[in-house]
Amino acid sequence: MKFLVINGPNLNLLGQREPSIYGRADYKALCERLRAFAADHQSSAVCMQSNHEGDIIDAVHEAQGKFDAIIINPGALTHYSYALLDALAGVNLPAIEVHISNVHKRDEFRRRSVTASACIGQICGLGFFGYEAAMLYFLEGEKA
Ligand code: DQA
Repeated sequence: MKFLVINGPNLNLLGQREPSIYGRADYKALCERLRAFAADHQSSAVCMQSNHEGDIIDAVHEAQGKFDAIIINPGALTHYSYALLDALAGVNLPAIEVHISNVHKRDEFRRRSVTASACIGQICGLGFFGYEAAMLYFLEGEKA
């Protein structure tokens, strides 16, 4: 499968950003890990990151016809971007929302996702493994 992995605002700061919450590995390490994981599963992962809402919305639109699935960590856009919600709902591509941290253990405002309803599901609190778990879901499907 061809995966587009989208990371939103401030995820370029992984490694230096609140390491007790997000860990010490940086964004480059995340992308290398996800590309290797995808390759191990006869798939590919293209990673993009932006701090700009419009660029992320454009990436969702442009993924149509090029990718099989989107794995998205919208960062703080999760909590307020109706425009990103509409973009995810408007394209014919399945998406899974991922958060590195457990958003339910943190500030109250992080508990609400306005974007998850346009996704198959949401994974949070599993660190970088959450992105791989999302890929596995798409690769293996619903087996329950
Ligand atoms: C995050 C959680 C969000 O609340 C936060 O704004 C982020 C990162 C996560 O991966 O845990 O930027 O999406």
